[in-house]
Amino acid sequence: MRTEVSGVRHEYRGDGGRATHALGPIDLTIDPGEFVVIVGPSGCGKSTLLSLLAGFIEPSEGEVLVDGSRVAGPDPSRGIVFQQPNLYPWYTVRENVALGPRLRGASKGERHAIADEHLRLVGLADFAGAKPYELSGGMQQRTQIARVLANDPQLMLLDEPFGALDAMTRERLQGELHRIWRGSGKSAVFITHSVDEAVFLGSRVLVMSPRPGRIVFDERPPFGDTERTADLRASPEFATFSAAVREQIGASLADAF
Ligand SMILES: Nc1ncnc2c1ncn2[C@@H]1O[C@H](COP(=O)(O)OP(=O)(O)OP(=O)(O)O)[C@@H](O)[C@H]1O
Ligand SMILES: [Mg+2]
Repeated sequence: MRTEVSGVRHEYRGDGGRATHALGPIDLTIDPGEFVVIVGPSGCGKSTLLSLLAGFIEPSEGEVLVDGSRVAGPDPSRGIVFQQPNLYPWYTVRENVALGPRLRGASKGERHAIADEHLRLVGLADFAGAKPYELSGGMQQRTQIARVLANDPQLMLLDEPFGALDAMTRERLQGELHRIWRGSGKSAVFITHSVDEAVFLGSRVLVMSPRPGRIVFDERPPFGDTERTADLRASPEFATFSAAVREQIGASLADAF
């Protein structure tokens, strides 16, 4: 799936007509199989961009196109993972993951098979019958990822999905997510405040300016889609690319003051 953001600007209208220019103008093309990571300061419009890609909101100007057609609303082919787990507490983990297939009319046997397959993929096969409150934060985020994957999305949208996790869990989930993505042919747009996370995951790293967010940096780390390992994180190439991203963030913040 090819996604194009073309001349997009977004303004929120508050009470009494007060407008907040949140984003843009932005032009961005995401090719099939790309893992795009976006870093940028708080409030620069990253979640707004994700909501536009998901079809939750419409741009004030410009358009978002998927395979040439204008996005008119949400669709299971573009799945979103939020920072805070939003699982239904009264359903089991399996039932949470089976929700998409259930809405598509899959039989109980089918949807449980799909759910269990995706729970295996994220390492939660043994917790299918548990309730969300019985899981750790990292396990709940894995469940959210399994739930999105169960819809077989072509584009995964992830809004700081690991932001609330401890450093060790976070690094482990980064590796798992990259492994799942690598074998899938899916595209991903992943938002983070962590330069380290961006460089580790991205086949392409974007930096956004302070609000109204525009793209001020768009580069591919030199590791392609090779397996992500602790050695890679410790390599000189990783440090060099991370330094370039940090420098760009620093420069765009300095411009804003
Ligand atoms: N629903 C809304 N109504 C009005 N203003 C909004 C709304 N959502 C976001 N904004 C404003 O738009 C701007 C961009 O917000 P957005 O949530 O996209 O930023 P962000 O880059 O995701 O920030 P963070 O890193 O803190 O999550 C902010 O100034 C915010 O106050
Ligand atoms: Mg946000």
